[in-house]
Amino acid sequence: MMRINFKTILLILMVAVASSILTYWGNCTRLLFVNKPEVQLQQKQEQHLVNIEPTYQDIDCNINGGYLISCRKEGDEVYIPFSFIHKYFEIYGKLATYDGVERFEWLHSYSKILSPKSKYDSRGVFMTFENYNVEIRERVKCITGYDGVPMSTQWETQGYYYPTQIAQFGLSHYSKNLTEPEPHRKIIEDAENLKKNWQISQGSTLTRTFDEYKNTYIYEFTTPELSKQGIYLQLNHILSFVIKFDLYIIDNTTITIVLQNREKKDLYYLHYSTIDTVLSTNNNHIYYGIGKRKNTWHRLTRDLIIDLQKGININDNTNKVKKIKLTKLKLKIIKIILIGNGKIDNITLSTSEHIEQFYDSARWFVNNQNKTTGGWSNNVKRKLAIGMNILEPGWYSGMGQGHALSVLSRAYYHSGDDNYLIAAINGLKPFKTLSENGGVLAKFLDKFIWYEEYPTQPASFILNGFIYALIGLYDLKTIAHGYDDANDAGKLFDDGMISLKNMLTLFDTGYRTTYDLRHFTLKIAPNIARWDYHATHINQLLLINTIDDDPIFSLTAERWIGYMNGKRAAHN
Ligand SMILES: *[C@@H]1O[C@H](CO)[C@@H](O)[C@H](O)[C@H]1NC(C)=O
Ligand SMILES: *[C@@H]1O[C@H](CO)[C@@H](O)[C@H](O)[C@H]1NC(C)=O
Ligand SMILES: *[C@@H]1O[C@H](CO)[C@@H](O)[C@H](O)[C@H]1NC(C)=O
Ligand SMILES: *[C@@H]1O[C@H](CO)[C@@H](O)[C@H](O)[C@H]1NC(C)=O
Ligand SMILES: *[C@@H]1O[C@H](CO)[C@@H](O)[C@H](O)[C@H]1NC(C)=O
Repeated sequence: MMRINFKTILLILMVAVASSILTYWGNCTRLLFVNKPEVQLQQKQEQHLVNIEPTYQDIDCNINGGYLISCRKEGDEVYIPFSFIHKYFEIYGKLATYDGVERFEWLHSYSKILSPKSKYDSRGVFMTFENYNVEIRERVKCITGYDGVPMSTQWETQGYYYPTQIAQFGLSHYSKNLTEPEPHRKIIEDAENLKKNWQISQGSTLTRTFDEYKNTYIYEFTTPELSKQGIYLQLNHILSFVIKFDLYIIDNTTITIVLQNREKKDLYYLHYSTIDTVLSTNNNHIYYGIGKRKNTWHRLTRDLIIDLQKGININDNTNKVKKIKLTKLKLKIIKIILIGNGKIDNITLSTSEHIEQFYDSARWFVNNQNKTTGGWSNNVKRKLAIGMNILEPGWYSGMGQGHALSVLSRAYYHSGDDNYLIAAINGLKPFKTLSENGGVLAKFLDKFIWYEEYPTQPASFILNGFIYALIGLYDLKTIAHGYDDANDAGKLFDDGMISLKNMLTLFDTGYRTTYDLRHFTLKIAPNIARWDYHATHINQLLLINTIDDDPIFSLTAERWIGYMNGKRAAHN
């Protein structure tokens, strides 16, 4: 949360700075040696007409012989506008007031370092992912109705499953489960007691029966196929907007939740329907396809606010994104409608259902693994850099594989279900297969192994993706301790740590880190890490340092933190 808020502030600040550059420095990029126009002098006089005589003079400042900007001179001191410094050096600043006194705060970096409080625990919170909210990201099209995981539009607008993102979604919910307060939960219908006030339209039936297989009471419903009214329950429910229910599809079925804007009275219909379309919207009707898996029980967990938000921001006809923001404070749930033919149980409304959403992610990894290769494929084209090959759909990511191990290890630990462990162990295969043969393994100078976030030719050696892969291997090695089949995780982790210790300082430029080693493999300019990636590198080293106390990690992290505070490596 901290991080998001901080970034928002900076964004506002950057916009403010940018617009002040436009107004204040509208003409500051005059070419050198243009005579100082007299107009400027006149402007200056007008500006200070009402003020007392200023103690400074305007003075032109010649920037590296390239262009002039206007500065101010006071005695022997020259003052350069911060808006210029901000752009030129990418340094951030803002005015702040303390006890009524204003002061200016200068920041080299916009990111924050969060030092780990204790030794990293593979059963616990993942990194600082309790602060992540993957589903609200703009590059997430929606959470699919079919499997309850995010669908990405980052590199392809139509949408695709991105294992890295699906894992981050799972890990954030797992982490939130451990850090957030207990949710408020209300059971709307569990068929255990007498029938609630369900309204049953003509030709429809709702029957409470005992399900032998599940050993519990459930409701079976049938309505005419095109029934609009169906069977419904009127509600007046506010504040908790995560719905969960168990559904058994007998034939075409739609579960509709009707939301109302409390101020404007507009109605929104969220339809969870046995169709294949992932998401479609028709005015205030939003359809999520839940697929056609008949005659078996499924648990659906839906964050209604996210579903509504993603739905109304997609406009099928024009593809134009209309940005409407509807928060839970503005809404209430007024109806649940059952249409078609199925069975339903355990309709619950909660403030959150983190563990359910975590398991949606974990199940996705079990159900979508290539059993032969052990990989979770990225079915999208990806071009990392000019000079590197295009990755054709189907490629594996060392980071995606590693993240999957982090999810599956936790799912195995939490549930004891072997299926998660089996998938995780199978997921080690791409770590042992060279990139050129469809795996994620690269070698640096034929000596040090590396798990590639993007398995490019030539290799890219992306640092953060590699460390995430290592953390995944560590998670599996720790959780599956004692299982021979999982021994490879330990070996792959140890080999990776040797590379990390030997290669870490290759990413150091003396004032910031590089994102990858393309400057070595492509012989081009280094790809300097954005501050948030630089901070990620440090956060990762601090985590690694809690499980391996080699001083390379603490010393390097300390130096890299210094860069965020304006320090630079000494020169000769
Ligand atoms: C910038 O300079 C041009 C030509 O010197 C002038 O026409 C224009 O009004 C100036 N704009 C501002 C914002 O001062
Ligand atoms: C965390 O998950 C457990 C089930 O493992 C659940 O009982 C608890 O309510 C959840 N807490 C939060 C904050 O999500
Ligand atoms: C279910 O829907 C499909 C597609 O809309 C339709 O072809 C089929 O007839 C429906 N089944 C029943 C039993 O109405
Ligand atoms: C409803 O929830 C209860 C309690 O968790 C569970 O025992 C039962 O199996 C669930 N019903 C279905 C149909 O899954
Ligand atoms: C698994 O991967 C292999 C090798 O890339 C490929 O030939 C096969 O089609 C994949 N299987 C599935 C089910 O995608």
